[in-house]
Amino acid sequence: MSKKASIGVTGLAVMGRNLARNLARHGHTVALHNRSEQRTRDLVEQFGDEGDFIPAYSAQEFVDALERPRQIVIMVKAGAPTDAVIEEFAPLLEKGDVIVDAGNAHFADTRRREAALREQGLHFVGTGVSGGEEGALHGPSIMPGGSPESYESLGPLFEDISAKVDGAPCCTHIGPDGAGHFVKMVHNGIEYADMQLIAESFDLLRGALGYEPAQIADVFRTWNTGRLDSYLIEITAEVLAHTDAATGKPFVDIVTDQAEQKGTGRWTVQIGLDLGVPISGIAEAVFARSLSGSANLRAASRGLPGPSRTPLSGAAAETFADDVERALYASKIVAYAQGFNQIQAGGAEYGWDIDLGAVAKIWRGGCIIRAKFLDDVSAAYAAEPGLPTLLTSGDFRKAVEDAQDSWRSVIATAVRLGIPTPGFATALAYYDGLRAERLPAALVQGQRDFFGAHTYRRVDREGSFHTAWATSERAESPA
Ligand code: 6PG
Repeated sequence: MSKKASIGVTGLAVMGRNLARNLARHGHTVALHNRSEQRTRDLVEQFGDEGDFIPAYSAQEFVDALERPRQIVIMVKAGAPTDAVIEEFAPLLEKGDVIVDAGNAHFADTRRREAALREQGLHFVGTGVSGGEEGALHGPSIMPGGSPESYESLGPLFEDISAKVDGAPCCTHIGPDGAGHFVKMVHNGIEYADMQLIAESFDLLRGALGYEPAQIADVFRTWNTGRLDSYLIEITAEVLAHTDAATGKPFVDIVTDQAEQKGTGRWTVQIGLDLGVPISGIAEAVFARSLSGSANLRAASRGLPGPSRTPLSGAAAETFADDVERALYASKIVAYAQGFNQIQAGGAEYGWDIDLGAVAKIWRGGCIIRAKFLDDVSAAYAAEPGLPTLLTSGDFRKAVEDAQDSWRSVIATAVRLGIPTPGFATALAYYDGLRAERLPAALVQGQRDFFGAHTYRRVDREGSFHTAWATSERAESPA
């Protein structure tokens, strides 16, 4: 009886190829399949010595190569290509078999697919995989959704190939149906916010202190030895230290300043709006990318009046970099607090019981937002599972308290010098909004009742009310 594979990967572009190699390197027999056969042949030719591969050159051959329950990992583009591969393989599978979608699919598509395939007795597992091509090969953070039964056979494999932190795998069963892809989506949203805050820190150090990119790289390297220790800070220092070979200029100065986006950050904001979660840090990061890409609008606005950018000097300049570090850390806490609140809201909306501490724990390694910081996030939720926001948790509360003056003065400096810091500013506005005794939303309610009779509630009585604004008495009546 020929040897069977414990798992198969179809879609052997770089991510799929690296995931297959990672599985084989960990001693698992891996069936391979790709729409164009050449990619399958190339993988075996180039990396066949890394472990046991069973190349397959048809869907049936691929399915026949798998032991039961068959486990197929799809690594193709989200959307129609994923549906096409599901339609090709589902009819060849049997009850209890598992289809894994490890692409960046929209969680609503995953919920639809999971329900449809469950009808056929199949398990569909939408799985977030974070860490890019290097992560797929050397150890990603893996966020599987789907049924608990599917995790019984899949979990050990994924935990085996995931990144490890303190010996713990950066993989856990997130929750049923689309929970895994939902959490991956929020990971990407937080990634956008984190990247935006780092970019604004760079802009502030350059605009307010006149630092060159190489100097700013050194600042980030220093920050990476402390509480901001993270993959994104680490690579930022590398990018800023890089010199363009063709011109000898700082690399960051020859790059077109228009940020692109494949869409997961946008999805996070759209869902945040639907769920009523004010993820302003992620939203401003998405808007900042869109603004940067609005070339014609920016060209037309280039001459608009604004303050001169006279770099700071004296005492203000002395402390500014440290002030930016404190403002960055406080703003980062806000962005992550918002992201985790969105996961909480998603769990409540879709009936997923997501363990936020476990999510933070598997984000400590392998993924793009991997950071020492996530140890503290994980500990905060472990200490208080019902934590309403990270901002009220001991260490984070203290860090934000200590950052108050710096946070506010950095934003004031940015405003005075005309340096755009939407991420920093929205984080502080969110923080002040959360802690405010009274918000001007009371006036908004009055306005809405005035023009639309949309009613309002009172602080001193139960019920909804309306004022007859059009009459001279303007009497109030229960609505
Ligand atoms: C990850 C990344 C990845 C992301 C790409 C493109 O977790 O490995 O977040 O999933 O899709 O890096 O991201 P953009 O949305 O910025 O294009």
